[in-house]
Amino acid sequence: MPHTDRNLALPLDQSRALSPATMRDRLIVGLDVPTLKQAEQAVRDLEGVVSFYKIGYQLAFAGGLDFARELASGGTSVFLDMKLLDIDNTVAKGVENIVRMGVSMLTLHAYPKAMKAAVAAARGSELCLLAVTVLTSMDEQDVIDAGYEYDPHTLVLRRSEQALHAGMGGIVCSAGEASAVRRIVGPDMAVVTPGIRPAGSDHGDQKRVMTPAEAIRAGSSHLVVGRPIIGAADRRAAAQAILDEMASA
Ligand code: C5P
Repeated sequence: MPHTDRNLALPLDQSRALSPATMRDRLIVGLDVPTLKQAEQAVRDLEGVVSFYKIGYQLAFAGGLDFARELASGGTSVFLDMKLLDIDNTVAKGVENIVRMGVSMLTLHAYPKAMKAAVAAARGSELCLLAVTVLTSMDEQDVIDAGYEYDPHTLVLRRSEQALHAGMGGIVCSAGEASAVRRIVGPDMAVVTPGIRPAGSDHGDQKRVMTPAEAIRAGSSHLVVGRPIIGAADRRAAAQAILDEMASA
């Protein structure tokens, strides 16, 4: 049962939190490629090494939703990174249809009303609903520019607490926040961290980054890695090196 430092009522019906059994179950590769053909190639390149893929905006709008169904029906875990946010009814109806796709994880922005609507719509299903707290590409100034009066860390913690009480299955945050988030949400909720960069690799637009070993030590249940694997000359070797580093932590 998740716990919190503060004395707050816990949700009765937590969205399913995945319990990864092996390191392989904990590495999620972002299929951030422009075409279905390239996504299929990436999955072929990584066959036997990677068993969990994330499909986001780019691929979703190029046939990625059917590909997500196909992967899921073949037994591969799929994280649909749709970062939903809308009025309650629209969120609920969207989630009801996403449940039918058979994917394992789905993201929503961590707004309390949207989270509650999604949790109610996913109740009884296997779908793990993840709350996106603050995007890892955002730093303090970006958060201020977006109109919030909190610094990113405080906002992440506040939203994690709200996600816990909405009954979400997990949190998406930067690995730098993972240990503090873990203290809030307890041992059972997923803590999924993008912004992972092996030492010496290019950060791209990510601002709050950590290495794979640091992310595991910080309490991440799952690591999301895109460009360091998808952009590598040898994808299998890049994924294996990250898995080895995760295991060493
Ligand atoms: O290429 P890279 O490893 O930076 O990819 C990270 C992936 O995680 C991207 O698909 C991005 O959309 C996603 N993501 C993120 N920050 C979040 C949530 C998702 O970077 N807070």
